[in-house]
Amino acid sequence: MRKKIVAGNWKMNKNFSDGLALFSEVINMANDELHNSQQVIVCSPYLHLHSLVQLNKGNTKVALGAQNCHQAESGAFTGEISADMLASAGVQYVIIGHSERRQYFAESNATCAEKINIALKHHLTPIYCIGETLQEREAGTHFDIIKTQLAQATYHLSAQDFVKLVIAYEPVWAIGTGVTASSAQAQEIHAFIREQIAWQYTVAVADEISILYGGSCNPKNADELFAQADIDGGLIGGASLKSRDFIDIAKAFN
Ligand code: 13P
Repeated sequence: MRKKIVAGNWKMNKNFSDGLALFSEVINMANDELHNSQQVIVCSPYLHLHSLVQLNKGNTKVALGAQNCHQAESGAFTGEISADMLASAGVQYVIIGHSERRQYFAESNATCAEKINIALKHHLTPIYCIGETLQEREAGTHFDIIKTQLAQATYHLSAQDFVKLVIAYEPVWAIGTGVTASSAQAQEIHAFIREQIAWQYTVAVADEISILYGGSCNPKNADELFAQADIDGGLIGGASLKSRDFIDIAKAFN
């Protein structure tokens, strides 16, 4: 059975003390209110991660993730962070290929492929983000875009490694805009992604992969989104900055 996952992407928000306070609230609410079968992940800024890992000791309901990593093992890459550093600090997940990285930091599918490789090498679970822009959707090229984002960054993996991934479908036009993809639009793409994976690998592999939806997900729309057959959870931006909203989204699975 594939995992039900709700992951928060704090992006570049929350100073150190505010981040610690928010995370403490998340742990307490998760422990009190969530089932064991759900995985809640917090992807904070790098600076906070080690302290959050320490705060989280003894808890099983929440795991920590980074929002990016560099593709090289180590070296002269001023300002960057390696997968080895993240893993050695107790981080378990890493977001790769978020549309903001693609847009503002020129990350290509080829770079994402390298980042996925180094993440897997260090036993981090990549949360690989794909999704079309509004322009691409309006031009009717969204299926092709998603196909290419999948193929170029992940199809070099063996089936054994591919099943270690989490995929997040985040239509760029729904990120931070308050416009959510309808549950039918999201389900259509999630089913398409699973079908592509089944063609490339096997139906069993496709069935094992958690595919998250991201883009203006909130406590009001989470129920309907998560009720779709191929939506296994969410990657949450704005609403993950409020503990109550974030946990209420996770409770949409209850
Ligand atoms: P919002 O939930 O703020 O739309 O952001 C989604 C996102 O980009 C998560 O990675």
